[in-house]
Amino acid sequence: MAPDVVTMDKIVALCKRRGLIFPASEIYGGIHNTYDYGHYGVLLKRNVIDAWWQSMIGDRTDIVALDSAIIQHPKTWEASGHLAGFTDPLVDCKTCGQRFRADHLGELPCGRKPSKHPGETPECELTEAREFNLMFETTIGPVKEAGATVYLRPETAQGIFLDFKTVLGFARKKPPFGIAQVGKSFRNEITPGNFVFRTLEFEQMEMEFFVPPGEAEQWHEHWLRERMEWYERIGIRADHLRLRAHDAEELSHYSSATSDVEYLYPIGWSELEGIANRGDFDLTQHAKFSGDKLEYFDTASGERYVPHVIEPAAGVGRTVLAALCDAYDEDDVGGGPRTVLRLHPRLAPIKVAVLPVVSKDGLPERAQEVFQMLRGQMQAEYDEGGSIGKRYRRQDEIGTPFGVTIDHQTLEDGTVTVRDRDTLAQDRVAIEDLPAVLGARLAAPWESPKLATA
Ligand code: GAP
Repeated sequence: MAPDVVTMDKIVALCKRRGLIFPASEIYGGIHNTYDYGHYGVLLKRNVIDAWWQSMIGDRTDIVALDSAIIQHPKTWEASGHLAGFTDPLVDCKTCGQRFRADHLGELPCGRKPSKHPGETPECELTEAREFNLMFETTIGPVKEAGATVYLRPETAQGIFLDFKTVLGFARKKPPFGIAQVGKSFRNEITPGNFVFRTLEFEQMEMEFFVPPGEAEQWHEHWLRERMEWYERIGIRADHLRLRAHDAEELSHYSSATSDVEYLYPIGWSELEGIANRGDFDLTQHAKFSGDKLEYFDTASGERYVPHVIEPAAGVGRTVLAALCDAYDEDDVGGGPRTVLRLHPRLAPIKVAVLPVVSKDGLPERAQEVFQMLRGQMQAEYDEGGSIGKRYRRQDEIGTPFGVTIDHQTLEDGTVTVRDRDTLAQDRVAIEDLPAVLGARLAAPWESPKLATA
């Protein structure tokens, strides 16, 4: 695939056309940086999250799962530093009335003259930069009164630190061990988001790995390697991934070292995941603010210490977007152009489409039997409307790796055609062998079909 085949506009259009992801509240004109996931988008997202859980708690025994609350005690955010420091510098333009990130002015269009940047025209009148907190505030109870203010979490991580002691009590683990969770976080982002790259609400896949202080660096290295490999295992091309270490000015207040996994999105290299060495910052802060001891006592050595934390923090939306961009391709089949998502079969929303060649002569009935047989084993879809060519294109656009076609020969000898999305090879397979044939191809090791066919 030529590198410029995929653009953000094409991804946005495909996602809308096929109902994967589309603007939220569209009947009211949409809402800033907010998107809804449709049927195929939900399935794709679920497959990403499943692959992450598989790598965290399926493939290893040193991590446990957690699902903590979105709204936590407000002291949480005092202790974590978010209340004081989780801010963006913003400027207002008194002429156009728009608000801009002061550190992004060079990338943003002027409110009056979009060909210029804010502050570049003589009419622009920008205020001094002021710090705005990114946390969404709300209140508990019917009255907005002092003491009732709470916040929607801006990261899932803090719930893990609050539950550290509880989990330690029942998980029968000792450092090094991890607590993983997936859930929604919320940030009042004013910068235009580049589709689902930056949204107001987004799902995070975060894992806090608690280690003896002396082992922090080696575990940081471990998680850098693990996470890079995970993206390759779900089919992202290695040359579209890189690690970038933060320099001292860029580091968050809690971090002594952070590296971002970056993906080569159509907008350029951008953060997919942050992997931080958070040291003992969070447990120490929550111990101070709560008065509780948040430490580990090693009964064997008699040693007591506050574990250090290595945190791989990934975004679901950004992973979905990277998978879509990486899979997007256009080619020519039988004289006609096609758009195809060469998604890894395990990420593909639909694994197999069952298609009668025509909707008569008893083919739909036979195809329904095949569909009912397969759907218990894998995410399958039945489609009999429109020409077979159009139905293939539709499945190609949502990344369905296999098409099973029922034709007149099926009625004679009980065989069907299995069409491969990437090679376009068509194999004749007996219906009773389909579960085994498709099952084996879907269960193949995590390798990219793009690489296999390149
Ligand atoms: N607990 C650490 C933490 O939250 P982060 O780098 O701010 O670190 C982790 O966020 C990941 O969450 C990012 O790498 C990104 O994938 C995702 N993320 C952060 N803000 C986002 C936003 N506004 N929209 C979509 N994803 C976002």
